[in-house]
Amino acid sequence: MLVLWVGLMPWWSARGAEPSLRDKFQRQFIVGVAADGFLPGDYRSNELQLIRTQFGALTPANCMKMDALQRQEGRFNFGMADALVAFAASNHLKVCGHTLVWAKDDRTPPWFFADGTNAASRELLLARMETHIDTVAGRYRGKLASWDVVNEALDDGTNFIRPSQWLSLAGEDFIAKAFEYAHAADPGAVLILNDYNVEQPGKREKLLRLLRSLQERKAPIHAVGIQGHYELDAVPFKEIEETIKAIHALGLEVMITEFDIDAIPRSRWWADGGKYREEMAKLNPYAEGCPADVLARQAAQYEQIFGIFLRQSGAITRVTFWDLHDGRSWLNHFPWERANHPLLFDREAKPKPAFRAIMALP
Ligand code: G3I
Repeated sequence: MLVLWVGLMPWWSARGAEPSLRDKFQRQFIVGVAADGFLPGDYRSNELQLIRTQFGALTPANCMKMDALQRQEGRFNFGMADALVAFAASNHLKVCGHTLVWAKDDRTPPWFFADGTNAASRELLLARMETHIDTVAGRYRGKLASWDVVNEALDDGTNFIRPSQWLSLAGEDFIAKAFEYAHAADPGAVLILNDYNVEQPGKREKLLRLLRSLQERKAPIHAVGIQGHYELDAVPFKEIEETIKAIHALGLEVMITEFDIDAIPRSRWWADGGKYREEMAKLNPYAEGCPADVLARQAAQYEQIFGIFLRQSGAITRVTFWDLHDGRSWLNHFPWERANHPLLFDREAKPKPAFRAIMALP
């Protein structure tokens, strides 16, 4: 009897009170979310319910990073990562691993680069990278849908590859090697190069150059992750669409891997040598709530960008939001503390106008 009743319910209500992003876009792409901490007490039950009902994929926001898994050489800590993978398995969520190598010095445990008091040789650094990738991707072999293999390798300035000890000690081909090691450890996983601001023309050219060189070398790369951290009133719509097309033209999948639209634009923080920082650090305009007109603009911009994702859905295989709801966003803390409102769900995990706008798309 219950089976019959559920079968007669509207298509969305069998899963929860709201229609779901996952179901709405199921024919176009997977909709995912970044989250972390599935040990008892980490999430409230309404947050867990939101993950289960709205999304089809989980990205670990922090617990699969090098500094979380192997802060000291050989001492792996899989507690949080295992809990996330178990939660995903019991809730039919795909897991999108993040990230095997983060190509920045301050995001790599320092021991990777050292050999006693000397710098590690190329051979030692690559051997450590291989051991890390083999241990981590090998542990979850067959259980993860994808891996962000190398994160943020491109330089924001005038260099091609970001200057780092990865580059200076191992050479540019540490990137190709990471893909080779990842493929050997988990041959079924979709392997992704992940980066931010790649829609900006200068960085896009570097991205395409790197992709071509990886392909020439026959490195097993399958997709590009466009992180998609945007700012209200400054979303580069045209450039995003051009970048999606350019990646697709190389025969690679596109994933929007860390999507959000910051309600309190932050780029001035880095402008003019950082001279506005003191003033900006006091800026907390929406501590009592986000005004309706801001939410409406944000909704319109989410709607417009989703229009692009739908138009380019032949290229895009996943769109993942970075963090579950406004109260959980990294943008409450970075680059300064403020109450931010960048996502589709508010601090009570309730849908915002942006959610409704996306769900109303034809
Ligand atoms: O959990 C500890 C807490 O116990 C401690 O009191 C507190 C003091 O600083 O730190 C907490 O850990 C923080 C952690 O986030 C969890 O909130 C770390 O300091 C902080 O560095 C860490 O920041 C993460 C950042 O990556 C660095 O790993 C953000 O949550 C995460 O959203 C952010 O994600 C990155 C992607 O990996 C790559 N692309 C950009 C994106 C946003 O920066």
